[in-house]
Amino acid sequence: SKLPTSKQYAQKEGYRFFMEKEIYEQSIVVSDCMLGRIKDSEINFDEIDPSILDGINEIKICACGTSYHAGLTSSYLFERLSKIKCSIEVASEFRYKEPLLTTDTLFIVISQSGETADTLEALKMAKSAGLKTLVICNVDNSSMTRVADYTILTRAGIEKGVASTKAFSTQTVVLWMLSLYFAKQRNTISSSKLQEEINTLREVPLALKVYENIHEKAKRLSKRYLHGHGFFFIGRDVFYPLALEGALKLKEISYLHAEGYPAGEMKHGPIALADPELFTIALMPKNMLYDKIKSNVEELSARDSTICAISSQDFELADDFIKINDANHYMLEFFEMLIALQLLSMEISIRLKNDVDMPRNLAKSVTVE
Ligand code: G6P
Repeated sequence: SKLPTSKQYAQKEGYRFFMEKEIYEQSIVVSDCMLGRIKDSEINFDEIDPSILDGINEIKICACGTSYHAGLTSSYLFERLSKIKCSIEVASEFRYKEPLLTTDTLFIVISQSGETADTLEALKMAKSAGLKTLVICNVDNSSMTRVADYTILTRAGIEKGVASTKAFSTQTVVLWMLSLYFAKQRNTISSSKLQEEINTLREVPLALKVYENIHEKAKRLSKRYLHGHGFFFIGRDVFYPLALEGALKLKEISYLHAEGYPAGEMKHGPIALADPELFTIALMPKNMLYDKIKSNVEELSARDSTICAISSQDFELADDFIKINDANHYMLEFFEMLIALQLLSMEISIRLKNDVDMPRNLAKSVTVE
């Protein structure tokens, strides 16, 4: 489908909120994000020097908010696919911890706006310590793009909703492509596996489509869920950062208390909170540690937590269920679940009559400390 023009980005076009429009746009903008970067059986980034990894043994990522969640997701992919040691920190912590920086580290910052004060400062620190720097950003010619050695633009178009949606999905796709690009360069991936991953990337626009039944389900669940006092979003592997993102969305626009948690860690404390008033949103992908998450959720169910499972697999212990399409790769499940999570928090927010696009106390970009 055709890309929206900049005038179209500036209008709601029948959607109730910019956030809703931006959720629906993801399927389209993500295609633009991949355009020219996926060629047959290769990933290509014209904007970075092919020798970018020379002398590099490690990746360090810094970001804030939703961008941090994209970064955390990618830290699994950089290690799994490119076999590069990768660590990530929130920028405000990184700045003041007197971090040890070595020039064999590629420093990556992720930012929708390119202006977030803490992230910009982290980038400047890394640059002055002599590290190679790369920014993944949605705004061309922003402060970070002017500081970093390399810029990869996410091409999501203008994002107006304060709660980030399409910036996150495009950041995640860029980082996934980058991990494959690095994997190819470092010879850590077979050509058949690379081809498989590329074929899967091509299916992301479909995975990010908003299906009517999912949107309807989110609307229906919002009736009861708006009364929730405590939410735990749980997942494993990349579904842990996705759980963090689901919880952040609910906090940001619905003002409900929510935590994202690694599912396997619930037994080390939070499970003590389990009772029917505790809503657990369980991310249960078929293609990633399904049996492990299943037994984590069974434990919570046995302790009477109310369970909302998001999965393509039927799960009889779930009190509520959002059924996503069956897929054969965990990253496709990741994007399908992302849509469900974004819609759920938006529908709760709308029912609570909150200002979805301009939630209280928050700013689209935080340019002061
Ligand atoms: C603010 C926004 C968040 C965003 C974060 C980082 O807190 O409300 O939606 O994720 O800043 O912004 P950035 O532009 O650096 O991605």
